[in-house]
Amino acid sequence: MIVFEFEAEVVPHHAALQIASRNSEGHRVLSGLEQCGVELQRVDASEAEAGTKIPAQLEDFYRTQHPEVLPAKEALVKAAGEQLVTLYSQNVFPYMKVTWGTHPNHIGHMSYPGCFRCHDGDHATKDGGKSITQDCAACHNLLVVDEAKPKVLADLGIQ
Ligand code: HEC
Ligand code: HEC
Repeated sequence: MIVFEFEAEVVPHHAALQIASRNSEGHRVLSGLEQCGVELQRVDASEAEAGTKIPAQLEDFYRTQHPEVLPAKEALVKAAGEQLVTLYSQNVFPYMKVTWGTHPNHIGHMSYPGCFRCHDGDHATKDGGKSITQDCAACHNLLVVDEAKPKVLADLGIQ
């Protein structure tokens, strides 16, 4: 079975979104899937309709934009369609007015500030005497910093 890994990420400062799609070996196997997959997360459909609308529109996309794909890779397109429906069902809730990209992901610090919204060292008491800490060690246990081959990773079997 082919499994796609969809990574849904809200890109900072844009309401734009990226979906990277690869098969389990890390190869991109369907051209145009990322762009079309993002658009399909914005499909105008109830949750119930999305299950049929998204796969149908994905097939239409390949039929019209990349006609060489469907005859050779119909099963892949079907699998991608199903997984786009799963992604939609996990992120889009039209009746709650939560659409694709409505809320940023505040876990971590890469795409959005997350905890740094307050833990930026600049949120201080009026007299400036105390601020909300950005000290990494308040939240992380830094085991190694800037080491090429840290022993702890070898001990953990990661490197
Ligand atoms: C107020 C708490 C807090 C502080 C302070 C903090 N972090 Fe984080 N950090 C988090 C949380 C929460 C996550 C997400 C953990 C997860 O995804 O399970 C995270 C994730 C990360 C990650 C993983 C990548 C990511 O963005 O998900 C890195 C790297 C990281 N922090 C580095 C740092 C460094 C360097 C500092 C100091 C400058 C720092 N953090 C300060 C809470 C904090
Ligand atoms: C809305 C603002 C806000 C956000 C967002 C926020 N914090 Fe805090 N955090 C505070 C305040 C205020 C304190 C108390 C600071 C003090 O008393 O010095 C605090 C204190 C802490 C402390 C204790 C730090 C210490 O040294 O005593 C930890 C740990 C912490 N926060 C973790 C987190 C993590 C993890 C996140 C993100 C998942 C996060 N905070 C997001 C406002 C926030």
